[in-house]
Amino acid sequence: MNNSQRFLLSASTAAMTAMLAYSGFASTALLGPPRAGGPVRSTAPSPPPKAPPTPPGPPTAPGPPTTPTPPSTPVPPVILPPTLSDGTFVDGIGQVTTINDSASATPSNPFFHPLGTNGRTCATCHGAAQGYSITPASVQALFNQTSGISPLFSTVDGSNSPNAATATLAERQTAFSELLSKGLIRIGLPIPSGAQFTLSAVHDPYNFAGASQLSLFRRPLPTTNLAFLSTVMFDGRETITNDTINQDLAAQAANAVVTHEQGSAPTAAQLQQIVAFESANYTAQTFDNAAGLLTADGATGGPIALSGQTFVPGENSPLSASFNPNVFTNYSAWASTSGTTPAQQSIARGEQIFDNHPITISNVPGFNDVIGKPTFVGTCTTCHNTPDAGSHSLAVYVDLGLTDPGRITPDLPQYTLKNTSTGAVRITSDPGRALITGQWSDIGKFKVPTLRALSARAPYFHNGFAPDIPHVVGFYNQRFKIGLSPQQQTDLANFLNTL
Ligand code: HEC
Ligand code: HEC
Repeated sequence: MNNSQRFLLSASTAAMTAMLAYSGFASTALLGPPRAGGPVRSTAPSPPPKAPPTPPGPPTAPGPPTTPTPPSTPVPPVILPPTLSDGTFVDGIGQVTTINDSASATPSNPFFHPLGTNGRTCATCHGAAQGYSITPASVQALFNQTSGISPLFSTVDGSNSPNAATATLAERQTAFSELLSKGLIRIGLPIPSGAQFTLSAVHDPYNFAGASQLSLFRRPLPTTNLAFLSTVMFDGRETITNDTINQDLAAQAANAVVTHEQGSAPTAAQLQQIVAFESANYTAQTFDNAAGLLTADGATGGPIALSGQTFVPGENSPLSASFNPNVFTNYSAWASTSGTTPAQQSIARGEQIFDNHPITISNVPGFNDVIGKPTFVGTCTTCHNTPDAGSHSLAVYVDLGLTDPGRITPDLPQYTLKNTSTGAVRITSDPGRALITGQWSDIGKFKVPTLRALSARAPYFHNGFAPDIPHVVGFYNQRFKIGLSPQQQTDLANFLNTL
């Protein structure tokens, strides 16, 4: 995207319409036809929000079958119609929009087609309406529409255990409870050979997990805003040293077909198409029900500004002298108390808290031990440091304590790991990075994810620990004893919701 296009696309709906038209994704129904004479800057006041384009559930699904097919019979592939032609969806707090100007962004892209044997596509777990993830609401809608036999509800990794009984509707409701309640997929990974620990005890409420396959319940990471990734997957298992990010993404896509879609590896051409599509996706919140258009009055929310943001791996390192904590500056224009609304001001204050409010970071393995300081006064942006995206610009994995016994909810497995040389014992719901490296010190470590388009894809954290953004803020306030007042917590949540 060149500068003149970006300029045109700065802050108005008319400009956004023009950009979407330029990208080939304007939906006249939603955005109105592009203006005659091409893109123009509009000084007209912001229009009211558009009518909800699509219900927040999955794009479509077949009606309930008259005779539910037993899951043992192959389910015919359901191709969810791609949602590329519009790109804007209603979410919990307003609207979220995806733009993609790649020639590969067409319904024929293999991303949207079943490549394996169980009828799933990439979009089965990475839906545009859910910020390229899935949500409990979208899963429940699909379950209700299909009596729980749509390809998403495959026992390979959709159910709590691959052995779960799924013959009746009631059995399916139980078998897929993690998917239905938190949008969690079961990732099966073994203790790697040569690991510094063994699995000395397992408590799996679903009676399946063991050393050869731990059940790790994880949220689908979004297949959008991938331009800002330094690591692929929560545990970085698809990040290969010396590979480019596109090579990593191609390997990831091939594995996704083999595991989630139960197929054989796709062709190089198909992989290239998938990577070209997903890495050109930019998704962000565009409208907030309280604050209005997120590009109004000088703000730079939304995916258009984001798509112009460059990313250099390792940039803005929190430990470098040139570190700039102002990772997000999208709402600085709303900080003024004159000419702005209270909702806009709250978002601007939240952005300031995210960038600059001091946090005493302690007891974070992967951070405090690495820098050799038991306490470090930083901010949210010490870890979420990539400008305008909020991922970590380096392949860094840290342990926030989300898998520790005190936070393991009864629905999740508990693994007792024993250090083979020291005999030390640790209980965790997900060893995270340690299952990739075999290192004792990597237990419970996860990557720092990108923070855009959050509102479309609750719940948060790898295992859906936080049901919504206020719970994320509450977690951090308690974990780091930040002491945010109720108003500050509201401001920070309002800001995160606009990303
Ligand atoms: C059954 C659900 C499911 C299907 C189908 C699926 N994925 Fe995923 N995807 C996930 C989950 C869960 C994760 C996170 C796993 C983890 O981190 O351990 C993920 C992670 C990813 C990531 C990593 C993003 C990041 O930030 O690191 C990419 C890229 C991705 N998937 C692409 C694809 C592609 C391409 C396809 C189709 C070939 C696909 N997925 C099919 C569930 C799915
Ligand atoms: C010490 C590093 C660190 C600091 C400081 C930090 N984060 Fe995080 N953040 C992480 C990691 C790591 C994850 C992923 C953890 C997981 O899923 O297990 C995460 C996840 C998140 C998520 C969920 C993203 C998703 O897709 O589920 C949000 C939202 C978030 N952080 C916001 C914040 C805010 C707000 C602050 C400041 C109050 C903050 N973070 C401070 C490391 C950090």
